[in-house]
Amino acid sequence: MNNVFDIHIFICTNERLSIEKKSCGEQHGLNLIAEFKTQLNAQKLPLKIRTQKSGCLGICQFGPTIAIYPEGIFYVGVQIEDVKEIVESHIINKTLVERLVLKNGH
Ligand code: FES
Repeated sequence: MNNVFDIHIFICTNERLSIEKKSCGEQHGLNLIAEFKTQLNAQKLPLKIRTQKSGCLGICQFGPTIAIYPEGIFYVGVQIEDVKEIVESHIINKTLVERLVLKNGH
């Protein structure tokens, strides 16, 4: 298979602006994109990595939510300070950051 990207990171930046249901964009979705770009650039990896905004990934209650492909792993409750660990563990060492992985029923 010849993928356009080796790794594709989707970061929910949806802003619902509802007081009943929180959304990732209201929490720091955009800042997560900036931090991923900073951390990835610092690593100078020989990989084609795309980091981009996404709409709602459907797991709002556990957000901020990101999805990483080709593995199809969802990380939830992601904070700015978690990004470096995700890059080093998941992207570089191919080891999940278990405490942030979406599990069944969360
Ligand atoms: S608002 Fe981010 S997953 Fe729904």
